[in-house]
Amino acid sequence: MIAIILFGKPGAGKGTQAQFLKEKYNLTHISTGDVFRYNLKNGTDLGKQAKVYIDKGELVPDEITIDMLADEVEKNMDKAGFLFDGFPRTIMQAEALEKLLAEKKIAFVGTIGLDADDDVLVARILERGKTSGRSDDQDEEKIRNRYIEYNEKTAPLIAYYEQKGKYTSVNGMGTIEEITQRLSNAIDVLV
Ligand code: AP5
Repeated sequence: MIAIILFGKPGAGKGTQAQFLKEKYNLTHISTGDVFRYNLKNGTDLGKQAKVYIDKGELVPDEITIDMLADEVEKNMDKAGFLFDGFPRTIMQAEALEKLLAEKKIAFVGTIGLDADDDVLVARILERGKTSGRSDDQDEEKIRNRYIEYNEKTAPLIAYYEQKGKYTSVNGMGTIEEITQRLSNAIDVLV
């Protein structure tokens, strides 16, 4: 089994692209944001814990997120591998993921980062906020806070993976189809 991390700022298109890539490469797509939202909608304890942070545009604490991710991996060992979206988002999460993949004998092939300009991304999120019902899409302050969190806690992962020779940057601007093609090209080099 293999694991690929789809990396990028809020609104970079991770979720959109994962829908195509998971089919093409027979991967289980795990979006930690989607799992949190599912739990929020269903009023689980995990959802209640996560809501406090998500509503403010802050990251959910590492311990909660890492345990949840490990559960999702355990439940989905039936495909060719995993496409992680929105995880890891901190160095601690990255280290926990490496340990988990080693334990499960899953080969970590690399991280693919979607690059796009901030103003384009904020415009995408504001547009999606009109219909998504996502609490963290609703006002610019929460959206801005997600970028602050990204810059402080998540952006250092780029250097972390670059040092390991595990980071590929892909242009995330253009049509959805163009970006899918670029991502497929990048994955084909890795697998
Ligand atoms: P999460 O759900 O992961 O949100 P995010 O990273 O902020 O990412 P988005 O879902 O906003 O963007 P995306 O890159 O998937 O873009 P999308 O494809 O939707 O996390 C939400 C929250 O959960 C976090 O803030 C945190 O609180 C918590 N959380 C999650 N994971 C965590 C973790 N590991 N640790 C701690 N906390 C965690 O595209 C965006 C929009 O643009 C869509 O409307 C789409 O249709 C449109 N679009 C996409 N591509 C294009 C294109 N090429 N052209 C035009 N429009 C496009």
